[in-house]
Formats: sequence, C-alpha cells, structure tokens
Amino acid sequence: MINIQPIGEVPDARQACIDWADQEWSAVANFTAEEWVEEFQRIDQSPTDQVFVAHSDAVPVGMVWLLAHEDVDSHRHLTPWLSGLVVDPAYRRTGIARALVAYVESRAATEGTTDLHLLTVMPNYYFYQGWDVIDTAILGQQRVFVMKKALVNPDHPAQDQA
Ligand SMILES: CC(C)(COP(=O)(O)OP(=O)(O)OC[C@H]1O[C@@H](n2cnc3c(N)ncnc32)[C@H](O)[C@@H]1OP(=O)(O)O)[C@@H](O)C(=O)NCCC(=O)NCCS
Repeated sequence: MINIQPIGEVPDARQACIDWADQEWSAVANFTAEEWVEEFQRIDQSPTDQVFVAHSDAVPVGMVWLLAHEDVDSHRHLTPWLSGLVVDPAYRRTGIARALVAYVESRAATEGTTDLHLLTVMPNYYFYQGWDVIDTAILGQQRVFVMKKALVNPDHPAQDQA
C-alpha cells in the first residue's frame, strides 16, 4: 500500500529525496549534492512550493514536487508545475509514479488549479494519463516538452466539465 505525504510530515525521508535528486538530475542541472540540500531548504521556506513523498511499508520509495515556477524563463507565465518526479529504482514499474502524479493532480485541483504543467523528455509516459504537449523549451542544455493537463475541481466537477 502506497502512502503519500508532504515531506514535512516525514522528515526521515528527506535524505532519500536528496539522494534521488542527486542521482537523477545532478548531471543535467549541474548541481552538487550540497546544492540539492539547499534546494530542499528553499522549498521548505517557500509559501507555494511543496514536496510529497511516497512510502511503501514505511520505506520511502518516490517523490514528486508541486512548484509555482520551473527553471525556464521562456515559460514563466505558466503556473503551477508538477516536477521532481522520481521513483527509487528498486520500486519502479509498480505504479508508484502513476500514484504520485494522480496525487499532485488531485492536490492542485483541490487548491483551485485549473491547468497543471510539466517539463519532460518522455511525453509518452504522460499521454495516457491525460496530458497534452503544448510547446517545447530549453532546460539546461536539453530541449524538453512542455505539457499541460486541465484539472477538474472536485468541488465543482459539473461546472468544469461543461
Ligand atoms: C519515470 C519514472 C518516474 C516512472 O516510475 P514508475 O513508478 O516506474 O512508473 P509506473 O509504474 O507508475 O508506470 C506506469 C506506466 O508508465 C509506463 N512507464 C513507466 N516507466 C516508463 C519509462 N521509463 N518510459 C516509458 N514508459 C514508462 C509504463 O507503461 C507503466 O505501466 P506498466 O508498468 O503497466 O507498463 C521512473 O522510471 C523514474 O524515477 N525515472 C527517473 C526519473 C525520471 O525520469 N523522472 C521523470 C521526469 S519527467
């Protein structure tokens, strides 16, 4: 059973989250492990940005971020963003990422978000979860796809679908 919580409620998972970010994105982001520690501190202090952690039987197995802005100047006008999605290699292909994406979509919709965005090099992963490509952008040295999903507000589902 997968349990997803804000990182502030599961401080023991913090180092695992920093390690995943370091392993997956340090080369692309040109970050050191210490800079990831600082990035998590920045998110802690942000009024908008959040990290959510998935546990399986009390073991941290993945994370996802909800950010007001991504690090792409070309798309500063879009907000908010699903980001930081990673599942521990030992737990992949068991539906954890799917659960994390669904969790952030639901959380953002509850907070009043109508359009959620993300950057990815693997759009196929998101197509079948209802996301569309709306543009491309340069992230670091890489061209990435900008994707969007229209969310349904759980308090006003009929109105949003009309
Ligand atoms: C991408 C990632 C988050 C997927 O995590 P996961 O928990 O294994 O994904 P799920 O089990 O929820 O996958 C659901 C479906 O997505 C598809 N899928 C999973 N990983 C995929 C991949 N790497 N490429 C293409 N499709 C993939 C599969 O169809 C899968 O269904 P199936 O297992 O029935 O075939 C994980 O591989 C990861 O952490 N990768 C490194 C970081 C990364 O690339 N993050 C995404 C940034 S946009």
